[in-house]
Amino acid sequence: MNQQQTIYPGEVFANNADFDLAIRQLIPRYDEILEVISVCVPREANYLLELGCGTGELTLKLLQRCPKARLVSLDYSPRMVATTQKKITEQGYQERCQIIQADFGEWADGKLTIDIPSDFDACVSSLAIHHLSDEMKAKLFTCIAKHLQPGGCFWNGDPVLQESPVLVDIYETMRTNWTQQQGINREEVRSKLGQTQPYGYSGQDRLATLATHFSLLEQAGFQVIAVPWKYFGLAVFGGWI
Ligand SMILES: C[S@@+](CC[C@H](N)C(=O)[O-])C[C@H]1O[C@@H](n2cnc3c(N)ncnc32)[C@H](O)[C@@H]1O
Repeated sequence: MNQQQTIYPGEVFANNADFDLAIRQLIPRYDEILEVISVCVPREANYLLELGCGTGELTLKLLQRCPKARLVSLDYSPRMVATTQKKITEQGYQERCQIIQADFGEWADGKLTIDIPSDFDACVSSLAIHHLSDEMKAKLFTCIAKHLQPGGCFWNGDPVLQESPVLVDIYETMRTNWTQQQGINREEVRSKLGQTQPYGYSGQDRLATLATHFSLLEQAGFQVIAVPWKYFGLAVFGGWI
C-alpha cells in the first residue's frame, strides 16, 4: 500500500491515473456491473442522477445508452470530478452532463446548499454507497425515492456483506483468482491503493447484506425491489418507486 498518499474513501488508488485499469483488475466483472446498471435504465429516460461518478466510466455508458438524457452526477472528490469532466468534454457530452462536487451524504441529510431537482427518471450508483453507514444508507434511499418521478428506478452496484462467515474465504479466493486471471498478482494491484481516511459522510467499507438493503429500500418507499445481477459478494440491486 502506498503510505504517502492519503485519499478519500472511494478514490481507491493513490494515483488517479491507475483507476480505470486497476479497478478492472481488482473488482471481478467490473464492466459487467456497469453494463447491467445501464441496461436497467430505460433508453428513453430524460433525466438521470448518478451518485459517485469516479472517473466517469458509468457516466459515459449512461450518456451513450440514453441519447435524450441529461445527467447530473455528484462526487465529492475534486480529482474524480476533474477526470470525469475531461472525459465528458472529450467525447462531446458536456451539454448533457453536469458534474457537481458534493457529498451525497450531505444531500441525504438535507444539508446540501445546492438545489437538486426532484424529477429524475432514474438514479444510479456504482461502488460508492457502501462507504456510508447503514443509517445514512437509509437516509440516502429515502432521499433518492423523493427525487424520482413516479415509476422511476434506482440501481446500485456495490459489494455486499456475506450472510455467513463461511463465505468470507470463498469470496476472497474468488477475488484473488479474478486478479490472477487478469495476468497480475493481487499484491501488485494492492500496492497501488491509497491510504484512506474518513471524509465527509464516507468511511472505510461499511458493507450491508442484501437483506438489509432490501429492508432499507422498502422503508424508503420502493414498491418493487430486484437484484438483476449478483456474483459472489458483488450485486446490482434496486427497484422502482
Ligand atoms: C470506487 S469509485 C467508483 C466510481 C464509479 N462509480 C465506478 O464505478 O467506476 C467511488 C466514488 O464515489 C465517490 N464517493 C464516495 N463517497 C462519497 C460521498 N459521500 N459523496 C460523494 N462522492 C462519494 C468517490 O469520490 C469515488 O469517486
